Amino acid sequence: MKKLAVITATLLLLPVLLTGCGSSVIKEEKEEETVNENLITVGFSQLGAESDWRNTNSVSMQDALSRENGFNLIYKNGQQKQANQITAVRMFIQQAVDYIVLAPATEEGWDSVLAEARDANIPVILVDRRVDVSDKGLYSCWVGSDFELESKKVTGWLKGFTDRRNISPENLHIVNIQGTIGSTAQIGRTRGLANAARENGWDLMAEVSGDFTENKGREVMAALLKGYDNINVVYCENDNMAIGAIDAIESAGRHVGPNILNGDIMVVSFDGVNEQSLEFCKEGKISCIAECNPLHGPRVKALIESLENGETPEKFNYVDERLFSSLGIVRSVEVDGVSYTVEEP
Ligand code: AHR
Repeated sequence: MKKLAVITATLLLLPVLLTGCGSSVIKEEKEEETVNENLITVGFSQLGAESDWRNTNSVSMQDALSRENGFNLIYKNGQQKQANQITAVRMFIQQAVDYIVLAPATEEGWDSVLAEARDANIPVILVDRRVDVSDKGLYSCWVGSDFELESKKVTGWLKGFTDRRNISPENLHIVNIQGTIGSTAQIGRTRGLANAARENGWDLMAEVSGDFTENKGREVMAALLKGYDNINVVYCENDNMAIGAIDAIESAGRHVGPNILNGDIMVVSFDGVNEQSLEFCKEGKISCIAECNPLHGPRVKALIESLENGETPEKFNYVDERLFSSLGIVRSVEVDGVSYTVEEP
């Protein structure tokens, strides 16, 4: 399957980023990339470096698809812009890579470029988020999280919490700091909250995007506090935004925590990768976190190896994820007939 080619890629130089775990650094993109004929060449279009989750994911991919493991990885950072990712995929096609791995920023707008990859006989593996294309044959397979399930766990925890504390549903005044609009993670997590609010009679007051970054989370939260004086739950669609939101809440002189009947603002979140957010979860500043597992490198490696062996891997590959809270109030959450233990962070 391997195509033999000499590839010269002019790539931007990126700063080295530190992350919370794994081998901890994202390797710089190189000025020149020469394909070694004995290696499997993979073009990886990563969507950006917006969060600790993302950086941990990039490191996991680079560690797994290393030269020692038989891969020549061409890594491109899309800077959260789909146009950059489309350019990267086209570059990979020109370079005649063996595989394209795509972590798409948002779901729509991929039909044409993925058709170009198929015309060039280059298999595409999706990682993390998905694409919304009319023909699912445009990609070989996907590996990632069930984002709506993550949301059902968090909202199930919130329901359990309010039941045990005798808080009536109409007294929950929630704002949602959303991720990048149109991304699979945002769509699933937003839908999960909207459904739970409707089913339980919660007051979901506002949904505003913080683009999955700490700075925007801070900015959006500061604005929400000015617009609403009765917020008592902040549902953040990732931990980096939660960290920014907590900063904004405390800077406004409010207390973050689970005692919402006594004036606290409760924060719930997603990821469980960033060390500070896990620390906040231990302290009760973040009441509940649904884990989002970023360690997809070995999974993508296994999918490529399966394709190399002429096998057809499962189309959709979901990863197992946990639920964290240190409050000890809710011990387990049931979602769609499955019980999930609430673990200490
Ligand atoms: O798509 C996964 C999400 O993207 C993570 O929850 C978030 O932190 C990241 O930016």
